[in-house]
Amino acid sequence: MTLPDGRRCYFNHYWLRDNCPSSFDRTTRERVFDIFHLEQPPYPESAVLEDDALLIRWSGEDHVSRLPVDMLAAYADGTPRFDPSDLPRKPWYGDHYPDVARFSQPELMADRRLVARWIEALLVEGVAIITDMPDSDAGLTETANLIGQVRPTFFGDYFDVRTHIKPTNLAYTAKALELHTDTPAEDVAPGVQFLHCRANSVEGGGSLFADGMAVANDFREVDPEGFRLLSETEIPFYCEHDIYDMRSRQRVIELDKKGDVSGLTISQHMADIFDLPQYLLDDYYPAFCRFGKMLQDERYVMRFLLKAGECITFDNHRIVHGRAAYSATSGDRYLRGTYTDRAEMRSTYRAIVSEGRFRE
Ligand SMILES: [Fe+2]
Repeated sequence: MTLPDGRRCYFNHYWLRDNCPSSFDRTTRERVFDIFHLEQPPYPESAVLEDDALLIRWSGEDHVSRLPVDMLAAYADGTPRFDPSDLPRKPWYGDHYPDVARFSQPELMADRRLVARWIEALLVEGVAIITDMPDSDAGLTETANLIGQVRPTFFGDYFDVRTHIKPTNLAYTAKALELHTDTPAEDVAPGVQFLHCRANSVEGGGSLFADGMAVANDFREVDPEGFRLLSETEIPFYCEHDIYDMRSRQRVIELDKKGDVSGLTISQHMADIFDLPQYLLDDYYPAFCRFGKMLQDERYVMRFLLKAGECITFDNHRIVHGRAAYSATSGDRYLRGTYTDRAEMRSTYRAIVSEGRFRE
């Protein structure tokens, strides 16, 4: 057929029958037509353009489809549907702290459009700071719920970063914590991390954050072969204690469907013993170390002190985080954390900024 914009297009008969507007229930917004129940392959007895729609009378069925031309035009080329959350990622470097997107928590609670701006910052830069947080556990939950459901890990729904008497994790000590992404030992590590600072009066304990994507993009330029190894080879991660033995295999550099760097999975304290052929390690280890050194380069590392009442939010698959050692007896340091998922964040964003297919 020829669309009103002059394009000549071909449409498959099954596709036309399956996507008749009557296939979708207005209330549940789900597909209620089941193409598997058709007795014979769909065939148009007649097809005519009438006003803004293509009218199809189907052979062997008492059914007429009225397909809006706009809808046909959107799918004519067979390209993926437009996704408003598919925003270009912008790399940032060690001097980014003054420019980190900041949002006041009470204002976010009152304005969904502001939530969209916050998610935009997480999609584009991977990091944002929420200020004026309520000094309560509930304050973290209500903030996370603006993006999605709390996503538990095998540590539970929430975690407390302070010195523990019997620590099960380096984070729960006063020692320095190297730049890492969280819980790489899970099959799919949680997507968005929230670290709510409730107290920070110790000596030391400064936060370190870096944009893993910016580092990986530069690494691709200076060491293409190392980049290939780190983006193709799966290495083992673990987290083992008395009642759990979590293991996974991950690529250090994560690529999206277009082949662009979308993130990192890295953690020296959760990297398992590499069970890879020793000859492969002759190439892998030097590349891994070159990349790890680059990650710690001052050019990339943003250093600052997280203040009580702030909550730093970041893409746990892209932004690496760590902290300097601190003196546990010099004051209080308490961060409470949780996660939500990347996909749910994009879902919330689309629901706020786009019309979708069903809104009237
Ligand atoms: Fe962490």
